[in-house]
Amino acid sequence: MKTRNTLANLEEYVPGRKRPGTVKLSSNENPLGPSPRALEAIAEWAAQVNTYPDGLACELRGALADQADVAPENIIIGNGSDEVLVMTAGTFLNPGDRAVIPAHTFSQYEFATSLYDGEPVFAPMQDGRILLDEMRALIGENTRLVFLCNPNNPTGTYVGAAELRAFAREVPDDVLLVVDEAYNEFAEAPDFPDAVELTRDRGNVLVLRTFSKLYGLASLRVGYGIASAELISSMHMVKPPFNTGLLAQKAATAALTDTAFVEKTLANNREQREVLRAELDRLGMPQYPSEANFICADCGRDAKEFAAELAEEGVSVRPLTSFGMPTWVRISVGTAEQNRVLVGALDNVRARGTALHP
Ligand SMILES: Cc1ncc(COP(=O)(O)O)c(C=O)c1O
Repeated sequence: MKTRNTLANLEEYVPGRKRPGTVKLSSNENPLGPSPRALEAIAEWAAQVNTYPDGLACELRGALADQADVAPENIIIGNGSDEVLVMTAGTFLNPGDRAVIPAHTFSQYEFATSLYDGEPVFAPMQDGRILLDEMRALIGENTRLVFLCNPNNPTGTYVGAAELRAFAREVPDDVLLVVDEAYNEFAEAPDFPDAVELTRDRGNVLVLRTFSKLYGLASLRVGYGIASAELISSMHMVKPPFNTGLLAQKAATAALTDTAFVEKTLANNREQREVLRAELDRLGMPQYPSEANFICADCGRDAKEFAAELAEEGVSVRPLTSFGMPTWVRISVGTAEQNRVLVGALDNVRARGTALHP
């Protein structure tokens, strides 16, 4: 069978490796496991999986609307925010339309754009930071989408509230600004923005969030978008009818009430991110400042080789070669015990004499 021509432009996503018995710090998952309340909900509803789920996920949208202080009509649920990204491109891109994307960021913006025959254009970054002036300069007549990841995966840096507000004002009304806040809950900078504010008076802003990180539900695949009711209504046109399952919807709704788990997760991240930072400093690995649940560090040599050596020591981290950063790795913040194993592995790799940064 001949496939669509577009497939020649697509790169298959390479997920973080899962090896039994190893410490996985390559996918920014919640190291404390899933929300216990979510697990209770799954047990409670498991016997009903013979029934179709609510295709509009009304209960979950209602709970999210209360949390974000918007209406349920402002929310669309996806099979992970990955799917919301694909639905975004499917709703707004015609072949040849352009999407402005930071040079080093989450790969699915480019994927979704290319999937719908759009043209990704990449804005330069500096010191791991997204440069909004560079993004703005690339917005032209054919631009339909602008992607901004805040905090940015994989660098962990962020765009502040005032800067984001000014940028949103300058994005033309017929260009959609997508602000991906997959990691926003981990951010503690006082000027970290709440992009939902922008959706209240701008019809061209879409905010993406996920249950995969803070709530520990990556395998259930629940993400969502918040935007004007008109925009969300258009996106529902391309949504597959039953894109999230009953257990995913129930677990996500329960997880939203799990404040004890959320607090524990944030406390671990706050504490262990500092421990990790200090250890990387000791090892002479430069890092970017991170507002997320991972740290982006320079190993000063081929990141794939470096990650392979760490994997032999029982720890997986993400080499950032495919992100255009061939000597950098992204390391998820783990538990204290995971961090200890990681540091031991880093020391062993260094002892081999091939690493680390000069
Ligand atoms: C920036 C960013 N956006 C979206 C996603 C996708 O999340 P989900 O699991 O909800 O599809 C990820 C996952 O790693 C991510 O890093």
